[in-house]
Amino acid sequence: MKALVYNGPRDVAVLDVPDAKIEKPTDVLVRITSTNICGSDLHMYEGRTDMESGRILGHENLGEVVEVGKAVERIKVGDRICLPFNVACGFCENCERGLTGYCLTVNPGTAGGAYGFAGMGPYEGGQAEYLRVPFGDFNCLVLPPDAEDKENDYVMLADIFPTGYHAVELAGLQPGETIVIYGAGPVGLMAAHSAMIRGASKVIVVDTHKDRLALADKLGAITVDNVEQEGVERILELTHGMGADCGCECTGYQCCNQKGHEVPNLTMNNLVKTVKATGGIGVIGVFIPEDPGAKDELAKKGQMAFDFGHFWFKGQKIRTGQANVKAYNRRLCKLIEADRAKPSMIISHELPLEQAAEGYKNFDARKQGWTKVVLKPGQP
Ligand SMILES: NC(=O)c1ccc[n+]([C@@H]2O[C@H](COP(=O)([O-])OP(=O)(O)OC[C@H]3O[C@@H](n4cnc5c(N)ncnc54)[C@H](O)[C@@H]3O)[C@@H](O)[C@H]2O)c1
Ligand SMILES: [Zn+2]
Ligand SMILES: [Zn+2]
Repeated sequence: MKALVYNGPRDVAVLDVPDAKIEKPTDVLVRITSTNICGSDLHMYEGRTDMESGRILGHENLGEVVEVGKAVERIKVGDRICLPFNVACGFCENCERGLTGYCLTVNPGTAGGAYGFAGMGPYEGGQAEYLRVPFGDFNCLVLPPDAEDKENDYVMLADIFPTGYHAVELAGLQPGETIVIYGAGPVGLMAAHSAMIRGASKVIVVDTHKDRLALADKLGAITVDNVEQEGVERILELTHGMGADCGCECTGYQCCNQKGHEVPNLTMNNLVKTVKATGGIGVIGVFIPEDPGAKDELAKKGQMAFDFGHFWFKGQKIRTGQANVKAYNRRLCKLIEADRAKPSMIISHELPLEQAAEGYKNFDARKQGWTKVVLKPGQP
């Protein structure tokens, strides 16, 4: 089959690789029809993780079931399904509690597995013609009858829509409250969409990319085009000097200053400044335990100069981590089916799998107009 293979930093290519196949009786085999490029793929693409060369990328996957293992009961050949980016067992202590992003079975020695991901187990990615899905009965979300018509919406259930929703959940947003979101990438935009759906009175989105901010505006957010002190002051002005009721970090360890230079503690310290006293901060932007590629000495060790005194004084709360996609995807799916959510509105490019390398290059450059890329294996 054809698949997008990671060869090394900024070097990916579509190659012929051995076909994905059923390996265990609980597996499902899926023919992938939509698979997105994510901001998380870019950490690997840029060589800022320990991703092994030769592996297939892709954790935002949707397709049609073509074969099921002998022990699979619920999922049938022909079902159109979307897969959470997390690979989970469904029966461990964490899965039982709905924390499928921290499954204890699928990646022994640590918590949490994912398709095509550094440090998240041996699972190949779905930027390919076929994908092997472990624990198929548990992991597959069977899509409604309009699955094909709304495929570009439903594929966002694999990651960014539930992840944006999770950011808002971690921040603790209540109806009528205000929220500030750092990052207008796909995840930040989905956090803004989720906050509107959850009844925020004011959603403020911060970034430096005008095309991305324009989408935030379309979603009903107020935009702030400055990630430094000027932006902080603007947010305080918009929130009567108090700061927003809560805030989200949707950028991660590669966050930048106004000139585009990495300053790893910028978003976290700005959140402390722009969220009100006692407010919650939800951090779904990725931060990693070691970042040898960082320029900053602390960041190399996964640390940052965090404004803890200010944070403590304000009595704020921080919650972090991978999104547990299964905790939300079924209900967010119903919002799409009912036309109450339209996550596909951020898609800028649909490309055949063969053009994946071009998609990576442009999305990685945050090139104007490249806001979200969906790859379509099997389409010319
Ligand atoms: N926790 C999870 O489960 C989960 C899931 C998916 C993605 N992620 C992570 O979420 C983050 C965002 O993903 P994405 O796909 O939207 O990525 P992206 O890189 O496309 O978007 C990040 C955005 O942040 C902006 N930004 C940079 N510095 C900033 C600053 N100082 N202030 C405000 N905005 C700033 C960038 O201009 C960019 O538009 C990444 O770290 C990704 O790995 C986490
Ligand atoms: Zn993703
Ligand atoms: Zn589990």
